[in-house]
Amino acid sequence: AIDISKLRDLSGAITYDPGYKNSGVCKSDITFLDGEEGILRYRGYSIEDLADKADFLEVSYLVIFGELPTKAQLEHFETNIRKYTLVNEEMKNIIDGFPKTAHPMGVLSSLTSALTAFNPKVVNVENEKEMYEAICKTMGKFLVLATWTYRKSMGYPLNYYDNTKGYVENFMRLMFELPTGPYKINPTVVAALDKLFILHADHEQNCSTSTVRMVGSSHAGLFASISAGVSALWGPLHGGANQAVLEMLEAIQKDGGDADKYLAKAKDKNDEFRLMGFGHRVYKNFDPRAKIIKKAADEVLAELGVNDPILAIAKKLEESALVDPYFVERKLYPNVDFYSGIIYRALGIPTDMFTVLFAIGRLPGWIAQWKEMRVNKEPIGRPRQVYTGHPLRDFAPMDKR
Ligand code: ACO
Repeated sequence: AIDISKLRDLSGAITYDPGYKNSGVCKSDITFLDGEEGILRYRGYSIEDLADKADFLEVSYLVIFGELPTKAQLEHFETNIRKYTLVNEEMKNIIDGFPKTAHPMGVLSSLTSALTAFNPKVVNVENEKEMYEAICKTMGKFLVLATWTYRKSMGYPLNYYDNTKGYVENFMRLMFELPTGPYKINPTVVAALDKLFILHADHEQNCSTSTVRMVGSSHAGLFASISAGVSALWGPLHGGANQAVLEMLEAIQKDGGDADKYLAKAKDKNDEFRLMGFGHRVYKNFDPRAKIIKKAADEVLAELGVNDPILAIAKKLEESALVDPYFVERKLYPNVDFYSGIIYRALGIPTDMFTVLFAIGRLPGWIAQWKEMRVNKEPIGRPRQVYTGHPLRDFAPMDKR
């Protein structure tokens, strides 16, 4: 055991808060979240209203710039995003360097970081015009690169944004269009995706967003900060949960489809297994986004006529967990990732791409939080620690170890 009694005790001056469960690290005007009541608002507008009445670019503008756009502002925003969807041809060489089997989130994080090399001005924005340009560049290029990670994995030729189509329509086209002919866009699919992106647009100081702010606080630049956000989002305890949910459902199906067996495993404290898509750090009531997505999932599945045994397992898990004392006492409700994975599957999105879709949705939030941090001239992020290692030791030469 390490004897730390010889150390000067510094802990009195430090708040020990692992996981930052109770630390407010910034002031923010962007997102209001009340986890007890299940309330989520962007810039004061309820998530229910926004998901119902606005589209993703409108919400992106709201989240980033603070107000709903006028028609002219939205057109200007969209035109500028479109203008920047072209990606430097040399980026294709970088994509070619990845194996086809690479996970799209790793590729996306690398490509986003690589953008800095081709757009050095985005590193240090000096005025509002440069800030606006950096934002539009990020919104434009990130979407294209995100879809290219999929095209790479499938061996499809890389394609470009179609200026006659909307942002979310372009997402589907960029993903699925083949050289054999134009891709037929399904408006039901686009509407469902639009809603999903809106629901993901921001969620205050979650792991990836606080990472974006942390990296940005060293003035590393927008692309580098977003790239770090992508990496943070990738993990299965955060954005990677939507992929993990589907993998879990598939595993349950393969194992005979017994949902109750996995419910029991999740409750067993000697078993590391957790029910993916359940629980949330701040929502100790139903996640308001999950309510909206659950309804959207039911509608999309009915309209597309999807009949998938995986979904029956999901329903069973959901119904059982909602009345199981273990989950009820701990307030573990299905979260947004539980239902988003189900919709993505119904829309024909490959499982590996689920978290990439989350990243596309979260992009305006990351940008808004980075912008707020820069505009407010926040200091560099630098948490403290409580040291529990050895006191000073004598150096042991190699032959004495
Ligand atoms: N399955 C089974 N038990 C769970 C689960 C779960 N999914 N989630 C939490 N618990 C239990 C814990 O074992 C713990 O039990 P105990 O009090 O008996 O020790 C209790 O509930 C509290 O859990 P914590 O881990 O302390 O909660 P925390 O706030 O740290 O974690 C998290 C939240 C990471 C989301 C967790 O619930 C989890 O791992 N869920 C599964 C992964 C997931 O769905 N992540 C997506 C989150 S949403 C998002 O990122 C968009």
